[in-house]
Amino acid sequence: MPEHMSICVIGSGYVGLVAAACFADMGHKVVCVDNDEVRVKQLCEGGVPIFEEHLPELLAKHAGTNVVFTSRLADAVEQSEAVFIAVGTPQGDGGAADLSYVEAVVAEIARAIKSYKVIVEKSTVPVYTNDWIRRVLHRHGVDQDLFDVVSNPEFLREGTAVTDFLHPDRIVVGARNEQSAEILRRVYQPLTGGAYYAQPGAVPGTCGMGRPAKLLVTSTQSAEIIKHASNAFLAMKISFINAVANLAEAVDADIEDIAAGIGLDSRIGPKFLRAGLGYGGSCFPKDVAAFHWVAQERGVNLQLLEEVRKINDTQREVFFNKVRSALWTLRGKRLAALGLAFKGDTDDIRESPAIAIVKQLLQAGAIVTAYDPAAMERAKETLPPAANLKYAEDLYEAAKDADAALILTDWKEFAQIDLARLNRALRFPIVIDGRNLFKPREMQSHGFTYVSVGRQASYQAQEGKPRESPV
Ligand code: NAD
Ligand code: UGA
Repeated sequence: MPEHMSICVIGSGYVGLVAAACFADMGHKVVCVDNDEVRVKQLCEGGVPIFEEHLPELLAKHAGTNVVFTSRLADAVEQSEAVFIAVGTPQGDGGAADLSYVEAVVAEIARAIKSYKVIVEKSTVPVYTNDWIRRVLHRHGVDQDLFDVVSNPEFLREGTAVTDFLHPDRIVVGARNEQSAEILRRVYQPLTGGAYYAQPGAVPGTCGMGRPAKLLVTSTQSAEIIKHASNAFLAMKISFINAVANLAEAVDADIEDIAAGIGLDSRIGPKFLRAGLGYGGSCFPKDVAAFHWVAQERGVNLQLLEEVRKINDTQREVFFNKVRSALWTLRGKRLAALGLAFKGDTDDIRESPAIAIVKQLLQAGAIVTAYDPAAMERAKETLPPAANLKYAEDLYEAAKDADAALILTDWKEFAQIDLARLNRALRFPIVIDGRNLFKPREMQSHGFTYVSVGRQASYQAQEGKPRESPV
């Protein structure tokens, strides 16, 4: 049987909470700490503050037993062998990561350490943060023998976070010595040894007994760079396909066929080649900027990343112009905004391209009715209340009497729209799709004018609908 360990996770956000629940499911004893008292109370009462598949089930199974929640960091550190830091590292001045939350946590850990701990950098941080954490601990008078600092970047995606965590493509451990690397090997042993996958009720995924998770040990700097470089590479793939999409449109080619053709090359692969509104979220934008900043600081030219960002920003403009050219003027036009989250399967709206587009439409005087399956509450906290912004209970209500429907997030629910019903609901059958959820021919056969990304727009000769005859 794998050994069970005592683990503390600091931060109960998308990464911390998922990590805590998954470590608990792997059999460890976990204390999850947050300084947001409201969130801790909600978690202690059985609430689940984020929308994430499998998370409610894992918390229902383990909360109060294998995982407990608290705001008392010192107690949690004291009773744990490994202390994972999973607080935010937002974008700071000039693109650099703002590491003040990490530093504040490290200072608190320093005051709590009484016996040896391995402190694990789980948050995404620039290279040499590991050294800074050690320096801060020394400055606070913590004896060198009482800790090691290990880098263990997280690669989960929102929406599939639990599955990604328990069935990772790889686990990266940046360690300075064998003792601390070994502790991390023990933490992940249920995944790397495969025992987790044989356990009744294990979350299913790509790994298994015969195909356990892989763990790679590197230097701390390499681990930190692996994380930034992975996100930057994925963002680059998206900007690449978006740049090609604009060319495809200009020469009457089809970006979906092109992406399929490129993706069949096993050296390239089919993933992250979906053209659309560009990437958003709490990570790609800030991590591309932070990685670029790190390179600049070291006098290394990673200008490529500036182009990646520019293409991404342009993509929203390109989409907004499509809306304009499909509708001519926007003032007073009624638009259904389908999607607010930065991608499907999440309630996260941080850096969401959908929110940016809605703001632009509101500024242009359009009357927007928005609908998102999960992100409306969060959107209401961010989008200032406006006379020309309403929220609908479902997508057909959003579309009712609208001059056009705009698809802004790639929710499965939108890909499964009843097109005949959508057509009946809209005032004019116009769909402007920022996520390429449909085939142009299918939309045309359902009577829509259909505008998407990297493909020719198809216009209906007659966009008007027959007036209903008076009864
Ligand atoms: P988040 O904002 O959802 O959560 C951070 C949590 O930390 C919050 O609940 C906050 O209250 C808490 N916190 C802040 N200061 C604290 C303190 N002093 N003591 C205790 N708790 C404190 O952030 P997130 O999305 O989970 O991201 C965390 C880190 O993980 C970031 O570095 C991010 O780049 C990285 N990351 C995120 C994802 C993702 O998909 N969101 C994936 C991989 C890596
Ligand atoms: C991303 C990475 O995929 C994770 O590996 C990483 O751990 C995480 O960032 C992080 O460091 O926080 P996430 O932001 O949750 O995960 O979501 P993705 O699925 O990567 O999507 C990011 C954005 O790119 C979304 O706006 C999505 O719509 C967009 N995207 C993605 C595209 O426009 N095209 C694609 O082909 C793929």
